[in-house]
Amino acid sequence: MALIAILPGDGIGPEVTAEARRVLEAVGCGARFEEALVGGAAYLETGMPLPPDTLALAKRADAILFGAVGAPQYDTLERAFRPEAAILGLRKELGLFANLRPSKLFAGLEGASALRPEIARDIDLVIVRELTGDVYFGEKGRKLNDAGHRLGFDIMAYDEAEIARIARVGFETARTRSRRLVSVDKANVLESSQLWRDVVNEVSADYRDVALSHMYVDNAAMQLVRNPGQFDVVVTGNLFGDILSDQASMCAGSIGMLPSASLGEGSRGLYEPIHGSAPDIAGQGKANPCAAILSAAMLLRHSLDDVPNAERIEAAVARALASGVRTADLGGSCSTREMGDTVLRHLA
Ligand code: IPM
Ligand code: MG
Repeated sequence: MALIAILPGDGIGPEVTAEARRVLEAVGCGARFEEALVGGAAYLETGMPLPPDTLALAKRADAILFGAVGAPQYDTLERAFRPEAAILGLRKELGLFANLRPSKLFAGLEGASALRPEIARDIDLVIVRELTGDVYFGEKGRKLNDAGHRLGFDIMAYDEAEIARIARVGFETARTRSRRLVSVDKANVLESSQLWRDVVNEVSADYRDVALSHMYVDNAAMQLVRNPGQFDVVVTGNLFGDILSDQASMCAGSIGMLPSASLGEGSRGLYEPIHGSAPDIAGQGKANPCAAILSAAMLLRHSLDDVPNAERIEAAVARALASGVRTADLGGSCSTREMGDTVLRHLA
C-alpha cells in the first residue's frame, strides 16, 4: 500500500491540505497517510524546521503532500532555523530538482485574472523550474568590503549536469504537449545563463522534434502579461522560475489555484500549492483549497501512476468552479471547507 506523507506546515497549510486529503480519501486511491510537523510548527515543537523524524517520513513515503511554511514571527531567526529551510532542505535531501508548475485558466475564472479576459483566456502553460541549484544553493554570506561596508552575497551558479537534466525534463514535458519549449535565461548578462543556453542547445540535439527557442527573463516577464497564450512549456532556473510562476498564477486567476510537483530521478515527488502560508488569513477558513487539491491530483499522476483518479479530481475542480462556488480570492464568499465539499460532490 502506497504511503503518502502529509506535511501541513504553517498558516493556511493545515486547512488546505486537510481538504486535499479528504479528496484523496474519497477517490479511493488506496494509499495510507502519515502526518508530520514541518516549518514554523515544527520549530516551535522541536527547535528545528525540518526535524529528523519528518525527513525520515518523507524518505519512506511514496509521495509527499506539502502545505506551506513561514510566518513573520520567524523572519529574524538564523536562516537555518527559519521555516523556509524546511522546504529547501526537503527539495535538496530528496533530490527533487524538477518543479512543474502548470498555469491554466479554469472556465469561469476569466474575471478573476489580473489580465483582460480575452488575454487571460488563452493561458495554458507549464513552467519547468530547476529546484536544487542556482543562487538558492550557491555560497552565501556576509563580509566587510574594502570600503568597510557590510556586504551580503549569494553566488549564482549552475553546472552543466544540473542544466542538462532539467533541460531534458523540459523537452520531455514539451513532448507530452505541443512540442514547443521556451528556455528562459539572462544570457546577455550572466555567465551561468550563457552556460545554461549553451547546454540547452546541446541537449536539443536529442529532441529534434521539439521546437526550442530562448528568451531573456525580462522579456519573458513582459510577454507573460502581454500574450501568455504564446507559451506552452517554459524551462528556467530556480530564481527566474520562482518569480515567473507567481506572475503566471495571477494571470490564471489566483495564486490559490496553482499546484506544483517537485520531482527527482525516481517516482517519489513532493506536491504543494505554489501559494505560501498566508498568515493574514490563517485559521479563518478563507483559503482556497483548490491549489492543494490540484496538487493531490498531480501526486496521483506522477507518483502513484493513477492517471484516472488524477483526471477525476481535476474535472471535479473544474465542475465545482463552473457551478459558481468561489472562495474569497476568486471574488466569492464560500469557506475552505465548503469549497472542499463542493469538489467532493462533483467527483464523478
Ligand atoms: C516557492 C516558494 C519558496 C521558494 C520559498 C518558500 C522558499 O516561494 O516554492 O515558490 O522560493 O522556492
Ligand atoms: Mg515562490
